[in-house]
Amino acid sequence: MLEGFYPSRRARSSYDIDYEGLYEQGFRGIIYDIDNTLVEHGADADERSIKLFNELVHMGFSVCFLSNNKRERVRRFYDGLVEGGVNVSRIYYIYDAKKPSRKNYRLAMKMMGTKKASTCFIGDQLFTDVYGANRTGIRSLLVRPINKKEEIQIVFKRRLEKFVLTFYHRDRWQRLKQSNLILIGFMGSGKTTIGKALSKRWGFGYIDTDELIEKKEKMSIAEIFETKGEDYFRKRETEALKYLLRSRKNIICTGGGTPLKDENMRLLRKLGYVVYLKTSPKTVLERLKDDTTRPLLQKPDKEKAVRELMEERRGKYQRQAYITVITDGKRVDEIIDEIEQDI
Ligand code: S3P
Repeated sequence: MLEGFYPSRRARSSYDIDYEGLYEQGFRGIIYDIDNTLVEHGADADERSIKLFNELVHMGFSVCFLSNNKRERVRRFYDGLVEGGVNVSRIYYIYDAKKPSRKNYRLAMKMMGTKKASTCFIGDQLFTDVYGANRTGIRSLLVRPINKKEEIQIVFKRRLEKFVLTFYHRDRWQRLKQSNLILIGFMGSGKTTIGKALSKRWGFGYIDTDELIEKKEKMSIAEIFETKGEDYFRKRETEALKYLLRSRKNIICTGGGTPLKDENMRLLRKLGYVVYLKTSPKTVLERLKDDTTRPLLQKPDKEKAVRELMEERRGKYQRQAYITVITDGKRVDEIIDEIEQDI
C-alpha cells in the first residue's frame, strides 16, 4: 500500500548524484523540484547550482523545474541561472505545478522531448515529488532536504515521510538479505575496505572473486597473468561468478575488470544489488602509487595507464550500477552510510 510513495532511489543531495551515470543509463531529461532540493526554500540560484546546470547542459541533458510554488519564485531561480551564464535553451520551468498531479510531469516531458524511460525526477518530498513521479511512471530520486529547519506544516509531513521511509528501508533490507551486495569499481576504488567493513556491520559473508581465483589456481593474480595470460584470468572470473550464483547474504567484491564482459554483468545482476564505487584517477593514483600486485598497472607511465583504462571502463561501470557512490574525499563510514541510505 505504501509502495506508491517509495522512491526508486535515494541520494544524499542533488549535488552528489552520478549524472554521467544517469546519462549512460539512457536518461536524457531531469525534472527537478527547486525548494530544498536545489537551494534552500525561496533562495536564488547559487554558485553550485549554476555549476551543476552548466555541467548538465554540457552533458546533453534537458531539464525542467517543476514547482508547486508561484511564478515569481520559479522565475527568479531560473533568471539566476541565466545571469550566471547557463545556456538555458534546453531548460524549462513549470510553476504552480500541483504535484502530485501527473499532468505537469507529462507536460515537462513534452517540453524536454523525453519519454518515461528517459526521464528522471529529483526532489526532496515524498507525497508530492516522489508520489507524482511514481504515478507518472518515471524514476524518482529522493534527496535529503537542504535545510532541516522547516515550516510547521512541513514538519508534520516530514513525520509522515519518516514513517513511510521506515517501511521502505525495512522492505529493502528484507530483499537485500535474500540477495547479495556486489561492489564494482576500478582498482583502488576501495572495494575491499568497504566490502570488509560492510560484511562486519551487516553480518554478511565476505567474498572476493580475486581471492577465489587465487585459491583455486593456487597462484597469485600476478602469476596467473604472467604464466597464463589475461584471457585465461578473465575466463576464471566468469567461472567464479557462476559458482556464486546460489549464494546469498554476501558482500561480493569483484576485480576491477569484471564488469567489462556482458556475460559477467548479467551474472552480477543475478547475484544481487550492484554498487559502483566511483573514484577519480587522481585518488586511484595516490592509493596505488607503490602497488606491485596489479599487472595491468605495472607500466612505466602509471598515470597514463590508469587514465586510459578508466576512460575505457567508466561507461560499463555506470551503465550497470544499481547505485553509484562517489568516493573521493569521503571516509569509510561516510561511504557506508551512503550505501545504507541509498540502497
Ligand atoms: C583488474 C583488477 C584487479 C584484478 C586484476 C585485474 C582489472 O582487482 O582482478 O589485477 O582488470 O581492473 P582489483 O580491482 O581488486 O584491484
